[in-house]
Amino acid sequence: MTKMHDVFLTQKERIPVAVFDSSKEVNAAVASEIAKLIRERAAAGKKAVLGLATGSTPTGVYAELVRMHQDEGLSFANVVTFNLDEYYPMQPHELQSYRRFMNEHLFDHVDIDPANVHIPDGTVDIERVYDHCADYERAIDEAGGVDIQLLGIGRTGHIGFNEPGSPKTSVTRLITLDRTTRLDAAGDFFGEENVPRRAITMGVATILKARRLVMMAFGEGKAKVVAQAVEGPMVESVSASFLQDHPNAQVMLDSAASAALTRSMTPWVLGPVPWDKQRIKQAVIWLARKVDKPILKLTEEDYNENFLQDLLAEHGPAYDINIRIFREMQNTITGWPGGKPDARKRPGDISRPNDHIFPKRVICFSPHPDDDVISMGGTLIRLADQGHDVHIAYQVSGNLAVFDEDAIRFADFARDFNRMFGIDDSKTADIEQHIEAVLKGKQPGQVDSPQVQQLKGLIRRGEAKAGAKAAGVPEDHCHFLDLPFYETGTVRKAELSDADTQIIVKLLREVKPHQIYAAGDLSDPHGTHRVCLAAIMRAIDEVKAEDWFKGCEVWLYRGAWQEWEPEKIEMAVPLSPSELMRKRNAIFKHESQKDKAMFPGSDKREFWQRAEDRNRGTAQVYDKLGLAEYEAIEGFVQWDGESMFT
Ligand code: F6R
Repeated sequence: MTKMHDVFLTQKERIPVAVFDSSKEVNAAVASEIAKLIRERAAAGKKAVLGLATGSTPTGVYAELVRMHQDEGLSFANVVTFNLDEYYPMQPHELQSYRRFMNEHLFDHVDIDPANVHIPDGTVDIERVYDHCADYERAIDEAGGVDIQLLGIGRTGHIGFNEPGSPKTSVTRLITLDRTTRLDAAGDFFGEENVPRRAITMGVATILKARRLVMMAFGEGKAKVVAQAVEGPMVESVSASFLQDHPNAQVMLDSAASAALTRSMTPWVLGPVPWDKQRIKQAVIWLARKVDKPILKLTEEDYNENFLQDLLAEHGPAYDINIRIFREMQNTITGWPGGKPDARKRPGDISRPNDHIFPKRVICFSPHPDDDVISMGGTLIRLADQGHDVHIAYQVSGNLAVFDEDAIRFADFARDFNRMFGIDDSKTADIEQHIEAVLKGKQPGQVDSPQVQQLKGLIRRGEAKAGAKAAGVPEDHCHFLDLPFYETGTVRKAELSDADTQIIVKLLREVKPHQIYAAGDLSDPHGTHRVCLAAIMRAIDEVKAEDWFKGCEVWLYRGAWQEWEPEKIEMAVPLSPSELMRKRNAIFKHESQKDKAMFPGSDKREFWQRAEDRNRGTAQVYDKLGLAEYEAIEGFVQWDGESMFT
């Protein structure tokens, strides 16, 4: 794309935005800007003052800075830091404390002078908070002000903890956290009820005083609020929008977080764009939905009156474009996700390269024990019903998401069961006692002992087997991988290692699948799904040259949270009303996640409701575009073999 092109693409953006292919590139760019500042200041015998953020977004920058310290001798001896915020009340050693977070991610690994580190103190008495905040402001001024302030953006649009309603003039203070923010933090605290209600945060005015602001955001989940902050009006309800008023602010995004910006969603409204196959499809679907017509009824006027004159001029007439996109969409629909065996084909059936192989060996990788049935339960049912050899590989144990009360219930059951049938429990008595003692005396947020973690993992394993069975997949086809990266007992996970990859490689070589299904939440930067997908991609990289892998299809489904955009869906598997009920029944087997899940996100619906709404929603989109009307549809995108994690 030409420079000219970029200029008009950014017309609606009120803060400079840079979009990168991956979060890794953003991290490298931000870390090198910080390193440059530190080095320049050191050379001049001066200090560099950094404003730092916590949360999942900046961890990659910190990792890169640590690497630069270790490999390139980047010294932090001249660095002074001020963090944005801290929960209140909060002890510094606690798992969720931002002081501990900063120590673990950065300070413990570099040569910074602890006296130069400033983080709001979550332990000060309530009567002293006001003075503490005033002292914090003064300390920033005395240090000469912040040179570069790193920012993330919360789903409420907050920077720091400046929740909706924070004025532009606000300074460091005690605030009450918004419900959405507390829900987002619920995972870190093992339940929303344990999340502190308050926090101390730098104010909007404090943040705007910094000489340079760098706001990063990654993943689909941030796309909407990023667009509001960047393209919307400057309002107190989205405190990140105040960056529009800063002379030296920069927003750094991965492509997923940029998805709701006009330049990504509807670039043609900004000016002429090059029309490739994918963009034409995107535009036609957008147009049909905008004017509320099926694709085949779109007219020349519809194109002309809705910013698509050049598309029409280059590729028209309207009917030709319509029919092409209609056919493309129609070809995505198949009730035979494993391919239709040649013997059963009728004229007009869609052909896929491996149709002649029947039955197919299929592996569905499920990051958590319930993602398989939530995200592609209907497709699993179809694959199993159609006679394919379906395996499910559960990647992590999911033990973290089991409530203590359920663990106690199962421990009680095991004890009563043993007693009822006179089973010698001398070997297990210690474990029972341990579990009871630990769970009953547990503090909120305390990490479970290994035994309790195992018990919780076992509960989810039982549910997974029952769910798989309900979808028609037998127990001996369920593989529990318990990938080591997950088993830390805390929300913070270990780095993906070769041990994780090798477990998957082994399974792939054993099953030699013709089809692989995996959760394709591509850009959630630190979420388990993304790590699980990275592990699969690495494993595939290792086996891809082997004979059996040739022609193996890899299909990506979306996790419990989001659906593929209609223009991206390459395989749409329709579900009948009764298949949808069977899918619901399979999801119901995950009792520990029913009614109330440990990590519900901000969505109040249960997982089965979200899945049904989503699948029905996709079917409605297809229907409204003029394709067949189904009860529900599960959508998939085929992996093109490029690594998404370079
Ligand atoms: C963190 C902070 C917050 C986060 C924001 C995004 O110190 O002040 O504003 O930056 O909540 O959090 P993550 O990065 O976890 O999505």
